[in-house]
Amino acid sequence: MHVDQLDAAQRAQALAQAESDYHALLAQGLSLDLTRGKPSAEQANLSNALDGILDGNYFAQDGTDVRNYGGIDGLPEAKALFAQVLQVPADEMLIGGNASLTLMYQVIDFALRFGFHKAWNTGDSTPKFLCPVPGYDRHFSICEYLGIEMVTLPMLDDGPDMDVAEALVQELDNVCGIWCVPRFSNPTGCVYSEATLARLAALPKLAKSDFLIMYDNAYAVHALTADAPALGNIREHAIAAGTLDNIVQFGSTSKITFAGAGVAFLSTSKSNLAAFKKYLGFQTIGPDKVNQLRHVAFFKDHSGLMAHMDRHADIMKPRFDAVLSTLEAQLGGTGMGTWISPEGGYFVSFETRPGLAKAVIQLASDAGIKLTPAGATFPYGNDPQDSNIRIAPSFPSIADVQATMDAFVVCVRLATLRSLAK
Ligand SMILES: Cc1ncc(COP(=O)(O)O)c(C=O)c1O
Repeated sequence: MHVDQLDAAQRAQALAQAESDYHALLAQGLSLDLTRGKPSAEQANLSNALDGILDGNYFAQDGTDVRNYGGIDGLPEAKALFAQVLQVPADEMLIGGNASLTLMYQVIDFALRFGFHKAWNTGDSTPKFLCPVPGYDRHFSICEYLGIEMVTLPMLDDGPDMDVAEALVQELDNVCGIWCVPRFSNPTGCVYSEATLARLAALPKLAKSDFLIMYDNAYAVHALTADAPALGNIREHAIAAGTLDNIVQFGSTSKITFAGAGVAFLSTSKSNLAAFKKYLGFQTIGPDKVNQLRHVAFFKDHSGLMAHMDRHADIMKPRFDAVLSTLEAQLGGTGMGTWISPEGGYFVSFETRPGLAKAVIQLASDAGIKLTPAGATFPYGNDPQDSNIRIAPSFPSIADVQATMDAFVVCVRLATLRSLAK
């Protein structure tokens, strides 16, 4: 029953039940952790054949000895493979090291200092970035570290609220870009709609400043089911809008092969690539091409990569099912929280009633359950509504995910009923 429809006696009874359930939880002495948005060892095991796969053959298709220096933008066969993940032509790709986050940091650093068209860090006002919230904390840390002011905008079920985004870029000075995780967004799990992509691609034309879309497609191929929603092609919208120079797309195999030893890549216009390659050339004489070749040998082609992702889905789906079925069974229709059921990615994003996220997380912590700190999904760690909690079910065993969720719903019930009793 919806909590707002309970009369005083029913509410008191529900609170007493929640208190007693919570005491039972405390007595269990649990030690569980639902904070880690990283693949499990079982998932990493899917890619163990990378080890030794070259078997002494260190030569790329064009005869390059991959053990040596050079090839700043990566191997052609790696470009061809990962271009299909981003749905772009291979000659608009650059293959980097093990982390797309590094590429993102470098792109922002480059744009601040030198700019794809002109440097951001010139005029009087601080560069600003649009940050759809809730979002990925490490995007926000890059901005904070590099002195970019963050302006939040709401995340809807089909992507960022584009009405707000369009108004902000026209109103504010020096809005230089936006962060996007377009498929299975971190953490809401939403997939940007075609209409959102079209408006996003046109945003640079409305902005007063040189504007960059940081299009982090980290979960491009990370569906849980075969019929999960596809993502449209931002590049086609950008070509139609004449904004290809204002978009950089990112991806990596961190959640495909090894999170610490995968391959990261980006795609942007050819002129941007040329400028960025020059910048990179002062930092490295070339990326780890051995690992790039290993990945090509491992997947062979895009269908090999997609078949591999099906094996990930087999491991991930029961964990997501445990989260979602517990939320639905215990909190569905109670008005104690909302969530969307993601069809891919790594997270479930839970919204408590306003002002209760910290209380839920504290109750869970006291019962031995680690949840991502409240506010972590917001710039400066500040969730003004204090309502968002990011649930990351990939790493623990299914049994631990289930035990954590059973405890989580008790904490939500208790925090909600306590707040209503005040
Ligand atoms: C949206 C998003 N982008 C990037 C990353 C990190 O990617 P990489 O390992 O390629 O640096 C993550 C990891 O959680 C993520 O959620």
